[in-house]
Amino acid sequence: MKILVINGPNLNLLGQREVDIYGEKTLKDITKRMEETARGKNVGLSFFQSNHEGEIVDIIGKSEKEYDAIVINPAAYTHTSVAIRDAISSIRIPVVEVHMSNIYKREEFRHKSITAPSVEGQISGFGEYSYILGLLAAINIIKK
Ligand code: DQA
Repeated sequence: MKILVINGPNLNLLGQREVDIYGEKTLKDITKRMEETARGKNVGLSFFQSNHEGEIVDIIGKSEKEYDAIVINPAAYTHTSVAIRDAISSIRIPVVEVHMSNIYKREEFRHKSITAPSVEGQISGFGEYSYILGLLAAINIIKK
């Protein structure tokens, strides 16, 4: 099985960005941990990061042919992007939304996820471990 991991805007800056909230691990560190988790589970992972909404919409739209599931951290687009939500609603493979921080514990504008109603489920608040939980959830859904 193949899973696509999508990271939205500013997540390329993990490790240097608001470390009190997101910690010191870089996106590369997280990628490595996800690959370790996938090892031995017959899962191939692909990683995509973009700061551009349209690029994220494009890759979601093309994902169905190649992948069995998506794990996505839409980052700030979580709270603004009808286009990403519609892209997720347009495909038939399962999508799991992850957030490092607990978005419900932060500023009010982060409490609403525009994308959440279009995904299977959301994991929020476990730092880099949110990605591992999201990956395991996606694998579990595919196997069902
Ligand atoms: C985030 C939470 C978002 O509110 C924020 O804009 C991000 C990261 C998280 O992983 O906690 O960029 O998605």
